[in-house]
Amino acid sequence: MTTGSLLTVDLVISILAPAGWLAAGGAAAGGAAAGGRRRIAFAAAGTALLVTIARAITITALARAGWWFAAEKVLIAAPLSLAALLAAAPRLVRPSRDIRLAAVAFLFAGYAEAAAVLVTLLHGYPASAGVALLAVAGVAAATAVTWRLVGTRPSRTVVRGAFAGAAAALVVGTGLVVAPGAASGVPHHHDYPGAPAVGAPTERITLTAATTTVRVDDRDVPAWAFNGQVPGPEITATVGDVLEVTLRNQNIGKGVTLHWHGYDVPNGVDGVPGVTQDAVLPGQQFVYHFRADQAGTYWYHTHEASDVGVRMGLYGVLVVHPAPVTGIDRTVPVHTLAGHPLPAPGTERVAAGTPVRLRLINTDSTTHRYALAGAPFRVAAIDGSDVRGGTPLTDTAVLLPAGGRADLTFTAPATPVGLYVDGRAVYSTGRLSAATASWPALDPLTYGTPSAVPFTRYDREFTLVLDRGLDLRGLLPRYAHTVNGAAYPGIPDEVVHVNDVVKFTIVNRSAVVHPWHLHGHHVLVLSRNGRPAGGSPLWLDSFDVRPGDVWEVAFRADNPGMWANHCHNLPHADAGMMLHLRYA
Ligand code: C2O
Ligand code: CU
Repeated sequence: MTTGSLLTVDLVISILAPAGWLAAGGAAAGGAAAGGRRRIAFAAAGTALLVTIARAITITALARAGWWFAAEKVLIAAPLSLAALLAAAPRLVRPSRDIRLAAVAFLFAGYAEAAAVLVTLLHGYPASAGVALLAVAGVAAATAVTWRLVGTRPSRTVVRGAFAGAAAALVVGTGLVVAPGAASGVPHHHDYPGAPAVGAPTERITLTAATTTVRVDDRDVPAWAFNGQVPGPEITATVGDVLEVTLRNQNIGKGVTLHWHGYDVPNGVDGVPGVTQDAVLPGQQFVYHFRADQAGTYWYHTHEASDVGVRMGLYGVLVVHPAPVTGIDRTVPVHTLAGHPLPAPGTERVAAGTPVRLRLINTDSTTHRYALAGAPFRVAAIDGSDVRGGTPLTDTAVLLPAGGRADLTFTAPATPVGLYVDGRAVYSTGRLSAATASWPALDPLTYGTPSAVPFTRYDREFTLVLDRGLDLRGLLPRYAHTVNGAAYPGIPDEVVHVNDVVKFTIVNRSAVVHPWHLHGHHVLVLSRNGRPAGGSPLWLDSFDVRPGDVWEVAFRADNPGMWANHCHNLPHADAGMMLHLRYA
């Protein structure tokens, strides 16, 4: 079982247990009169007891799988569960004549275990003594209220007591979310001196953003597009070119910018509104000017209201060639536009023996699965960096995180080759149908030839715990996607100095995948889940941190400025999972 599925089982159990106790408590309360209710109460309590004990197994399994937060479960959930067991089990084994005693005990067990779930789901990380105390206080308050209403009065008021107790617990539970850690952050507006002189442009492009409709799958769908097309015009350059891209906004009310995803441009042209520039409003323009000195496959997209903007079509491909192209070189930017998958399937004849490079790009917010059938292929590059010594692969799928890219290369055989995305054909060299669903996925951490890590010390180390939690700091409460328990703009900046070697430890405590993306730098993968990366050095700008994953990555701080560091599932970024890396 993966850590992710263990976490799911543990979560289900941790909810079932208090539900069982509370049901038992409620039924026992009503059961003072009716014998049938009494049996139901004891059945529910018995189930809750077994489920609570089962939780010991899931927590132990999680600890053994290296789950970072097993200790927190042990510190908070275990004592509360133990208290629940101590109070409720004797009532179950030796039921007293006054069932109201059992009712209070069962309800107490329910409050205790519910408090543990609240701490896990609402407060999240980091757990502290204060949070534990508040949880205990909540349980005590809820039990006291219940006792007053149930323990000494006729049974009809018992159910009301249970509700009142639960409400008291909730109030305290909510308090526990607000109390720890003061909001520290205000959005920053730092200005950095303009980009260094990059020379006279050798390529001039104008991108005009406007609303439009585009034809997909024989339907007209509304879109926001650069130059009327989705994706926008493909920008192709050769290393050494100087790009001058003029962005115009015709009528996108929210404004637009251009971010060069994976391209480590100077900070002034990184395209992050409110940080490196202002959003370009209707009628305005902004000129991006930078030297193309990194070869590889990249993409560009708006960074203003990027969740809706990118989804509606404000993105395009950027490819920088190291040298003139030989053979066939195609880009496959995958996107979902109004529910329709792009691109439409394309076919071309390719003479046997021709070298082919397919540049796969995932511009959606979730992972896509690619499969190339009909020829052995190599993964030649990931996120724009060449893979060292990748061996030929067959019947192997390649997973791309949101924002990620991979270049697949092969020599065209005499027979057809087909590329599938999530089972759908997107590119082929002839008629073929292949079943690719059962292929295992390539693990890039074990692919290609390793070389020594170029860093011997780390000047700065940051831990990012990705999670969900209540964020009550804005006008309206929201269930935010959080980093270290806080949501944008409340997450403190990561501050570095030029030339620092920086290490990130990124841990996913939540139940969903977070494709992590740092602007302005590529990070070298050191390890995942405690296992050192053993393949070609992987310099990534986008990587999937799956539930339960612990990634260690490092980079040299060599590109001064203020850089976004966020989840590239753009709705998550929008819901708080965004912070900044700032040079002191
Ligand atoms: Cu492609 Cu800040 O994003
Ligand atoms: Cu995310």
